[in-house]
Amino acid sequence: MLQIRVKPGIEDRIRGFFPWIYRPEIASYSRKPKKGELVVVRDFGGKFLGYGYINPDVSIAVRILSFDKKEPITPSLIKKRILEAYNYRKRLYINSNAFRLVHSEGDLLPGLIVDVYGEYAVVEFTTYGMTRFRDVVLEALVEILKPKGIYEKANLTAQKVEGIDAREGVVYGEVPEEVVIWEHDLKYLINIPEGQKTGFFLDQRNSRRFVRSLVEPGDRCLDVFCHTGGFALNMKKMGAERVVAVDLSELALEVGKRNEELNGLSGIEWVQANAFDYLRELDTKGEKFDVVVIDPPSFAKNKHAVPNALRGYKELCVRGLKVTKSGGYLAVFSCSFHITEQHLLEVLTEASYDVRRQVRVVAKTFQDKDHPWILQMPNTLYLKGVWVEVV
Ligand SMILES: C[S@@+](CC[C@H](N)C(=O)[O-])C[C@H]1O[C@@H](n2cnc3c(N)ncnc32)[C@H](O)[C@@H]1O
Repeated sequence: MLQIRVKPGIEDRIRGFFPWIYRPEIASYSRKPKKGELVVVRDFGGKFLGYGYINPDVSIAVRILSFDKKEPITPSLIKKRILEAYNYRKRLYINSNAFRLVHSEGDLLPGLIVDVYGEYAVVEFTTYGMTRFRDVVLEALVEILKPKGIYEKANLTAQKVEGIDAREGVVYGEVPEEVVIWEHDLKYLINIPEGQKTGFFLDQRNSRRFVRSLVEPGDRCLDVFCHTGGFALNMKKMGAERVVAVDLSELALEVGKRNEELNGLSGIEWVQANAFDYLRELDTKGEKFDVVVIDPPSFAKNKHAVPNALRGYKELCVRGLKVTKSGGYLAVFSCSFHITEQHLLEVLTEASYDVRRQVRVVAKTFQDKDHPWILQMPNTLYLKGVWVEVV
């Protein structure tokens, strides 16, 4: 098997369970590496550090799957990890039939995402190295979940970066275009082939639940970047009188409207607009809301994009604060690792100075627990939300 040695000083981080090795951190190779092959990682002196796979064409060249010398990467290790991920989810008592079964590094399976929607599973490979285990992964999913069907979703960004061959479609059994799942007491339509991510933002489950504690019957609520109405439906369910849901995607809004019907709700105002422009418009009209949720897409895919992203966040916070009434609540989310909780708090503080409103933090929420984060790997904590009361 290919062996690599890392440069002096890198070993401490790996012994601390950080599973990535960047290309410039590799001191030597036992031979020329091939894309996707397995590798034994050693420190500069030759001591064992872990087993991983390598892609010499990308910046994160090695991802480690095992830090245990007695546990090399084999098909049975991959199956064991998937089973462990499943058993972990069983203990979480997620009040839904949809959950993330495998969350990449969070489940010691870098490059693999598996989401379960009732009797169906959606699988996504985000690294070249993980695609070598495609068959083993599918076999394990069939054994553990006994699904009616499995759909493979092509992750276009990862394909471009990692050079994976694009595969999209049903890879086992049959998968209908739309699946209905339930979460707490609401149902959601999931369009697996056309929907964003694997079809739904499962990671916001706990925040969709939390918003209910802030909404009172008769309230006016605003769900900005609403997708298929996750927050809007929960607001309406709590008896909000007016709910405005804004998104740029026509498909997401269409599914949102059907979700509303599916749940016997009515009256949500679905608005197709650019959220930045729409918030400005609401402010110009002097509109005020009791509860405002702003859940934008990732504005910072890498650290170079952070300054621009922060300008975007500042604008959203200023607009959000302006349309929240006194005594009302505003939530702002970041789903990028690069925009940290500290960044969110800073832009919120700056925005509050600009609009001259005092804000009181009422809660912080994170990606739900089926999207585990590894303490030693900060990159696995990507979704953060800050909820404030605008005094
Ligand atoms: C993180 S998702 C929101 C998830 C949603 N809150 C939920 O719980 O399902 C971000 C959404 O922003 C939408 N979007 C992206 N850019 C936008 C823009 N400039 N204006 C409005 N919506 C936008 C996307 O279509 C996507 O639905």
